[in-house]
Amino acid sequence: MAPEFDRAYWGDVWTGAGDRAAAMAASPPNPHLIRAVTPLDPGTALEAGCGAGSEALWLASQGWQVTGADIAAEALAIAARRAAERGLSDRVSWVEADLSGWEPPARYDLVTTHYAHPSIPQLDFYDRLARWVAPGGTLFIVGHLHHEEQGHGQGQGHHQGHGHHQGHGGGAHPPAGAGVTAATVTARLEAQGWEIGFAEETSRAMPGRGVVPVTVHDVVVKAVRRP
Ligand SMILES: C[S@@+](CC[C@H](N)C(=O)[O-])C[C@H]1O[C@@H](n2cnc3c(N)ncnc32)[C@H](O)[C@@H]1O
Repeated sequence: MAPEFDRAYWGDVWTGAGDRAAAMAASPPNPHLIRAVTPLDPGTALEAGCGAGSEALWLASQGWQVTGADIAAEALAIAARRAAERGLSDRVSWVEADLSGWEPPARYDLVTTHYAHPSIPQLDFYDRLARWVAPGGTLFIVGHLHHEEQGHGQGQGHHQGHGHHQGHGGGAHPPAGAGVTAATVTARLEAQGWEIGFAEETSRAMPGRGVVPVTVHDVVVKAVRRP
């Protein structure tokens, strides 16, 4: 049976045995984010499902005022420690929240997420994030590419792999229910009047838990909310 990606599940991930949490905490910022955001003028940003904060901290280092939000307090504790070590604490605030029900106090110039998959359907989760972007602002999504073994739609199948690479979870395939395609993400956004900057399905090699790199398959979407 596929796991329920709820608070208990993510708490276990971040406190559990093994090297998964440590690997995520050691991850460099996502290269897709660097490419997408470098041309933008810094403003306010929300990193949704920030985990140990690699992307939030990179944004802060680039001059963004960042809110890093995650359902797992354990992840946020690691992220806060890393921010302090880098002298970035004044540029990031950490919010413990279940983003499938949370509402932000304000909209953001940038809302971004990397591999976060909650217990609600993945596309519904992205819809929520999209609502939190200020007019003229940017939504940037990096998600798991739907894998055929998962079945159709958003991935309703049985694959038990988890995480976007072995360092994040133990498998190169996405967890059941988390996979999307570029077309399914952009169809929702276009229906809501968004301008798509780019939408890609792409693969890259990442270090695995062992010596052998793994190939990860990503959906990467950058969209702008028309002012
Ligand atoms: C696979 S990890 C990725 C973490 C980080 N973005 C990265 O790329 O290293 C997914 C993250 O999403 C968080 N998450 C899952 N469901 C969530 C929810 N409903 N609300 C907030 N965060 C959530 C988890 O706690 C976890 O830290």
